[in-house]
Amino acid sequence: MNILNISAECFPIAKVGGLADVVGALPKYQNNSGISAKVIMPYYVNSFTKSNAFDAIFKNKLTLGTKVFKFQILQLKRDLGYPVYMVKIKGLLDREQVYSYEDDTERFLAFQIAVLDWVLASKVKPTLIHCHDHHTGFVPFMMSHAKKYKALKEIPTVLTIHNAQYQGQFGFEKVNYLPDFDSSKKGLLNWDGQINPLAAAIKCAWHITTVSPSYLKELSKKANGLESLLLNEKSKSTGILNGIDDKVWDPEKDALISKNYSVKTVQSGKKVSKNKLCKQFGFDKNKPLFSFIGRLVYEKGANLFPDIFYKALLNNDISILVLGSGDKKVEANLKALEAHFKGKYNAFIGYDENLAHEIYAGSDFLLMPSRVEPCGLNQMYALRYGTIPIVRRVGGLKDTIIDIGDKGGFGICHEETTVKDVCFSIERGALFYENQKEFRKIRKKCMKIDHSWDKSAQKYISLYKSLIP
Ligand code: GLC
Repeated sequence: MNILNISAECFPIAKVGGLADVVGALPKYQNNSGISAKVIMPYYVNSFTKSNAFDAIFKNKLTLGTKVFKFQILQLKRDLGYPVYMVKIKGLLDREQVYSYEDDTERFLAFQIAVLDWVLASKVKPTLIHCHDHHTGFVPFMMSHAKKYKALKEIPTVLTIHNAQYQGQFGFEKVNYLPDFDSSKKGLLNWDGQINPLAAAIKCAWHITTVSPSYLKELSKKANGLESLLLNEKSKSTGILNGIDDKVWDPEKDALISKNYSVKTVQSGKKVSKNKLCKQFGFDKNKPLFSFIGRLVYEKGANLFPDIFYKALLNNDISILVLGSGDKKVEANLKALEAHFKGKYNAFIGYDENLAHEIYAGSDFLLMPSRVEPCGLNQMYALRYGTIPIVRRVGGLKDTIIDIGDKGGFGICHEETTVKDVCFSIERGALFYENQKEFRKIRKKCMKIDHSWDKSAQKYISLYKSLIP
C-alpha cells in the first residue's frame, strides 16, 4: 500500500498549527506499521528549505486561466521517517509564509494541479491519496471529473478535516483556473453561490475523516455553513482521534527543556523548568503557574482572555503566562494587562518552539477554553509533560480529558467558553494545587496516558484497506 498525503503544512518543514504536527507524524508511524506513506507539500522559502538539500525529480508547466507557470517537484534528501516531495512554483509558492497572501487561491490551486500532473506522469501510482484540509480540496474533484486526470479516477481519496472553519471559498469568475472538467459536474464545486474547495472535497472524496469523534458529531450542528452537507455525507465519515509524536514530545529526551524527567522524577524535573520560567518572567515560583499556548483567535476563546485573566489574577494567588499570536486587538489587550499584574502575568506575543516546550514542562496547568477544537494537540502534549489540562468540553478536548471530579479523572473541564466558566476552573485548579499530595498523584497519572499515534495510525490503515478495490 502506497499512500500519498497532500498538505500545505508538515512539521518540521513548515508549521502554522496542529495540521503540521499531524502530517509530520502520521506517515512516520504508518511506515512503521508496514505501509508506505509519503508527503507532498509546497516548497516555501523558509529556514528549513534554505538549510536542506533536495533532488529535482520532475519538471513541467501548468496553466492557471491564461497564465503559465513552470514548476518542479523536489525530493528532500534528509530522512524524516518518510519521503517528502515538494512543489516549487516560481512566482507563487516560493515565499516565506504558508498562508495569508492575496493570491492564496491561485497558489494552492496551482499546487494541486502540479501534484496531480506529477502523479499522472509517475510510473508507480499511489494506491490511495489522502488530502488534508481545504488547500487540497480540489484534488478529489479533479481526479473524478477533470478530463486530463481520467487515468486517476479509480484511485481512492480520503479527506481529513482538521478545521472546517476555513474553507477557501472564492467566486465563480475564477472557475477557468481549474483544468477542463465535465461541465455537468460544476454543481459539485458550488456551495452557497461560491466555489468552495472544502465543500467540493466533502462531496467528492471517497471517505471523510475528522480529527476526533466528537468533532464529527458537532459538525452537523456547527460547521461554518457546511452543516447540512456534512450531515448528508455522514455515511462516509469517520472520526479518528489524532495522536502525538511521542518521539518529539518526550520529557525524558526533549532537548528543548531545562531538565529531562520521567514519571519517577517529574517533581524535581518540572521544578527546574518552572524556576527558569519564573525567573525569566519575574513570577513567584511557589505559586501555581497557568499557561496558554496557541493562536490568539476567536475559536480559541482568545477575545475573552483579557477579561478572564484580569478576574482570575484579582481573585487568586496564581501566575499566568501566555505564548501566542493572532488577533492584533487581543495581542494589544493582553500586553496592556502586564502593567496591572507585574510579577504575576506575562504575554509573550509570537511563536517560539523552544519556549513552548519549556512551558509544557514548567507549568502546573494548561488552559484551553476553545470555542471550537477539532482535536487539539496541546492538551495531549501537556499530559505527557505532567501538566494538568483545563479544557472546555468540546471536540477533541471532550474526547481526551476527564474531569478530576469524575471517575478516573485527571483534568479540569467546563461546559462553556465564558469568563465565568473559565475563571471557575482556574479557581478549582488553584485549590487543587494546595493539596500537593493529590496534585502530584494526578500529575503522574497524566504522564502515563498513552496518546501516541500507534492506535490511530492503525485506524487509518484499516480505513484505507476498506477503500482499496
Ligand atoms: C487544527 C485544529 C486542531 C487540530 C489540528 C490537527 O489545527 O484546529 O484542533 O488538533 O488541526 O488536526
